[in-house]
Amino acid sequence: MCGITGIVGRSRNDIGRILVECSRKLTYRGYDSVGVAAVNNGKVDLRKNVGTVDAVDSELGLSEMIGDRGIAQLRWATYGAPTIINAQPHFGCEEVFYGAHNGNLHNYYEYRKELVETGHIVRSENDGELCVHAVDKYYESTGDMFDAVRFSTRDLKGAFAFAVGRADEPEIYAVKMGSSLVAGIAENDTIVSSDLPSILPLTNNVLYLQDSEMVVLTPDEVKVYRVEDGKQLNRIPEISNVDARAAEKGGYPHFMLKEIHEQPQIVRDVMGLIQKSKPEKWIQMIEDASSRYLVACGSSHNAGIVGTYFFNRLAGVPITPVIGGQFEPMCGNTLTDESLCILVSQSGETKDILNVLNHVRNNNLGKTLGILNVVGSTLMFNADSYIPMACGYEISVPATKTYYSQSVIFAYLATRLGERNGHLDSQEAKQFIHQLENELPILTQKTIDKTGILTKDLARTLMDTPDLYCLGYGLTDGVAREGALKIKEICYNHCEGMYSSEFKHGPLSIVTDGYPVIFITTTEDSWMIINHINEVACRGGRTIIVGEREEKLEPYVANTIDYLEVPSSSPLLNPLLDVIPLQLLSYYLSVDKGINPDLPRNLSKTLTVD
Ligand code: BG6
Repeated sequence: MCGITGIVGRSRNDIGRILVECSRKLTYRGYDSVGVAAVNNGKVDLRKNVGTVDAVDSELGLSEMIGDRGIAQLRWATYGAPTIINAQPHFGCEEVFYGAHNGNLHNYYEYRKELVETGHIVRSENDGELCVHAVDKYYESTGDMFDAVRFSTRDLKGAFAFAVGRADEPEIYAVKMGSSLVAGIAENDTIVSSDLPSILPLTNNVLYLQDSEMVVLTPDEVKVYRVEDGKQLNRIPEISNVDARAAEKGGYPHFMLKEIHEQPQIVRDVMGLIQKSKPEKWIQMIEDASSRYLVACGSSHNAGIVGTYFFNRLAGVPITPVIGGQFEPMCGNTLTDESLCILVSQSGETKDILNVLNHVRNNNLGKTLGILNVVGSTLMFNADSYIPMACGYEISVPATKTYYSQSVIFAYLATRLGERNGHLDSQEAKQFIHQLENELPILTQKTIDKTGILTKDLARTLMDTPDLYCLGYGLTDGVAREGALKIKEICYNHCEGMYSSEFKHGPLSIVTDGYPVIFITTTEDSWMIINHINEVACRGGRTIIVGEREEKLEPYVANTIDYLEVPSSSPLLNPLLDVIPLQLLSYYLSVDKGINPDLPRNLSKTLTVD
């Protein structure tokens, strides 16, 4: 995924400075390369290179670029290696058209060939360049930018959004065709961007755009049009209440640590919001469905696995957890018009999830319920209903608070469903919801405080561990996978997350003297997990335990730091709390290894590509 930002100023000439300030907020969307095209007196100054915004800015003086309008782009490479030539923005044939895109063009190879054969000078191997050439091509036949932009989309196949301009025309145009795009109207500027955080430094007066819409930015206004017929749409801007400080570290060394520490408040916010939003309609959707799928990617998938166990345990309702890209080949033919796909995506823009959304909608295969964090996202506008995660922007690439919010939402929904279908008695349900609302925030804070030092010390002992396992059982199955994903994502150690009872069926062969295996326990399942711990310990493996302190487990840990103890609570809260030591362990290990946990190599916060 990448991040584009386009700004048209009324009376400014410091376009480089403001483009760098705004687009820096999109760093989580891509940091392989960055570029700025600044227009000054009808001439385009294009500077770009491999590296983060700060690195390229200090090297090429992006912030010093003068002009009154321009486009910036932060890249996460898909088509074309991260090189200068493949960096965005791009020119068209001449240095007249300039533009950048986010997304994927599925017909990249065929279209590039067609453009080259018709005389276009295509310089890079990046699909984004073809968006600019497509506009260049249609401008030749129409002589009009508005129609050229509109018609260009006929040639471009895939899911994308792009911004484009002409050196000698004051407007900037942008199109939304499957990737996120939002516009803003400030006092002396108009702005279009892939995401809200880059708009907030200028304004919180925003316009959320839908697919197959385009905008024309002039210094005074943003006009919205339908791409298909060019009809102007009467779209009213709204005031976003997203706190711009979400895009600031607030004194923490990294966004990841800040966002871990936000989790106690996230529990309060999401429990408050979900109960205020009259959740009966969502519970009804889940209850009425004849088959239910929980579709997600990455950390959202791991939270979904935790959710599946909660729905079984608290409501006796089966929900199949499926990875986004797996869904069609694995379940696509099992859907009926009474199916329910719960699509979990904090960004609401993950292409693997939007593919499922489109499959269900295009074939009328039941209903979709989104669980999402980003207001104005494609998933929000297109799911039959959606549950807000109330996390504020999550800037760090590895998910923490959004995973936590999703887990709490599943615990709540499963409880309410269980109360409704009689699987839980009302007293039990009320008690657990009370625990979620009132005890969990305090316990979350206590766990952060209690395990902070321990995980720092433990991290140091894992610095040179090339690989390890993270095992869970029942409600901690998803927690173990999330802990393993965190270590893989930001520490670059190989760590496999799997079911503890399955470990003996093969993977156990990896265990030799001192080989580390992390077990995520609950007080309810430790009777079972202790067997799996034994299978590792009796072969010399190093057992690391995450969970409440239990006497029967103590003989299995060689050092105090190998027992990451969470405060005692209840078997249903353990799986929520157990993730925190794993988040902190991966954070400290990452920092000890000299890695920036917010921006791990090769990754991006939201993958709007297949
Ligand atoms: C990955 C992110 O790209 O996408 C993960 O690095 C995230 O942190 C995953 O969990 C899914 O993202 P989303 O927005 O669909 O929840």
